[in-house]
Amino acid sequence: MKKPRAFALCSIALVLPLCLFAQAPSLSVQVDHPTAKVNPNFYGLMTEEINYSYDGGVYGELVRDRTIGRGFGSLNHWPMVVRGNALVNISADESTGPSDALTRSLRVTVTKADKDDPAGVENDGYWGMPVQPHSTYSGSFYAKSDTPGLAINVSLQNDQTGAAAATATVTGLTSDWHRYTYTLKTGDVPASSNNHLILTIAQPATVWFDLVSLFPPTYHDRADGNRSDIMDLLAAMHPHFLRLPGGNYLEGERIADRFDWKKTIGPWTDRPGHMSPWRYRSSDGMGLLEFMDWCEDLKMEPLLAVYAGYSLAQQHVDPGPALEPYVQDALDEIEYVTGGPDTKWGAERVKDGHAAPFPLHYIEVGNEDEFDRSGSYDGRFAQFYHAIKQHYPDLQIIATAPVKSVTPDVLDEHFYMSAEESFSQSHHYDSTSRSGPKIFVGEWATREGDPTPNLEAALADAAWLTGLERNSDLIIMNSYAPLFVNVNPGGMQWATDLIGYNALSSYGSPSYWTQVMFSTHLGTEVVSYDLANTPPRVYAVVERDEATHKLFIKVVNANSTAQPLAIDLTGAKKLAPQATLTTMSGKSPNATNSITSPNAVVPVKRTISVSGPKFTETFAPYSVNVLVLSY
Ligand code: AHR
Repeated sequence: MKKPRAFALCSIALVLPLCLFAQAPSLSVQVDHPTAKVNPNFYGLMTEEINYSYDGGVYGELVRDRTIGRGFGSLNHWPMVVRGNALVNISADESTGPSDALTRSLRVTVTKADKDDPAGVENDGYWGMPVQPHSTYSGSFYAKSDTPGLAINVSLQNDQTGAAAATATVTGLTSDWHRYTYTLKTGDVPASSNNHLILTIAQPATVWFDLVSLFPPTYHDRADGNRSDIMDLLAAMHPHFLRLPGGNYLEGERIADRFDWKKTIGPWTDRPGHMSPWRYRSSDGMGLLEFMDWCEDLKMEPLLAVYAGYSLAQQHVDPGPALEPYVQDALDEIEYVTGGPDTKWGAERVKDGHAAPFPLHYIEVGNEDEFDRSGSYDGRFAQFYHAIKQHYPDLQIIATAPVKSVTPDVLDEHFYMSAEESFSQSHHYDSTSRSGPKIFVGEWATREGDPTPNLEAALADAAWLTGLERNSDLIIMNSYAPLFVNVNPGGMQWATDLIGYNALSSYGSPSYWTQVMFSTHLGTEVVSYDLANTPPRVYAVVERDEATHKLFIKVVNANSTAQPLAIDLTGAKKLAPQATLTTMSGKSPNATNSITSPNAVVPVKRTISVSGPKFTETFAPYSVNVLVLSY
């Protein structure tokens, strides 16, 4: 890539007359000269439980704190319900629960109630629960009562009006723990996000609840599956892999808080939930198998990160015998994902409901282990590497920090940048040595905008991506992070997240649309190109698709003025006279999308005429562009 010579010269007053001879900004492309192969799995998703990404996010569960968590603020989401003269007391009961893993429950003691004045408990969801007209919500709970035959009335009610969108009754409780199901069907009601779930009884009695649950219709109608609107946004990104389960969420604050995958599989009664490093409890409803289902639904491969003996509060496990149980856990986890029914953990997966093994090619050992000040990662990585390679020689193993004792197949590098940094780092990998491991840019983002990135960030992201794509002989995959944020007050722990949502709706940020534009126009090869005589803040990358004979020219103009480019294509034998140009732009770099204005900045596609291999195209101020030509 050449530097923008003419503008540099023009800035020197002494040589001002030379400007008269300055050449026009241009993009010369050698269509028949590929410079790097592009990995078809280049774009993927990075995910973890942060900003209410799963609980209160993509995982469809509407009930908050369904496992009746311990600690400060316990029962905050379970206020009592008292109508008229009814009397009720609620508390957390440490002495009884539906399973060995769930030994605590919600006790509701009603001392006065009748049909007209019932009493009970409500759940406020994740900043409300959504109601859509003509929808079916599937619910369940575990319960027992001191009053055999007790009936529970369930309803989904509006916070403000108290109007019930749907009601149901569950009868026949016994003195033992059992699971009960119910269905709430809405009629011709307005869509709203401010609803709550109410469980009441109409007589004096004590009832214990646990695992109270309610799901809306889910993506692909999976039982207890994912939210459709958010999955639709993800599907539009055409992601090829899902990096899971983190991030810091893999490591946990302490070793005891790590993502302990064996406690996230099987029936909910086997899942105690755990504390996330982002300061709230995870239900672990999004467990290992649910991650795999998510991959299957979006035709992605898992990129499985295994816990590697380091947690954020500088707790680590020394390499050697102490680390062996963790290595074995990782091997078991791989077997759960990929093993046949004749293997111990493969059989467990079959029992949990998924007969076929999942495809798996990449294992990441830990997360950001350069922060482990004990210096133990080299030894820990080597121990995992040798054990995994011995059992699964075909798996590619990713290190999260440079190591010396063994050469990883891939190194994961993370970048959180200001817009200026992203722009200036767009050539970061141009001169990186090609003799080391391949690179996975497993977390990156331009951090401008809150809760979701603005147009300036999207432009800078696009500039950065031109650099990643140009160097795709070295960079084999990349994923933006974090992916999600619940935009309600208190929902965000990390500002600048790709997709925002509340209980009812979701939207993609301008950076999301940059991802969509780039990932859905990915060639098979980068071709030789020269962007010349442009001012600063203009970037490009050019690829071709060998099979479809499409040329993808991605141009970023992060300036306030339109940018003409004289485009010169050589080696394109049969250039079609029509092309498409997709542009995302805005009036100001601060332009953005939000939950109330979700489509302020979105890509717009149009057809343009191309007169021949030399033509001029003008790119709008503050714009990300993809020009698609057939050659
Ligand atoms: O993406 C947010 C956090 O940033 C991730 O959990 C961690 O890996 C990184 O430091």
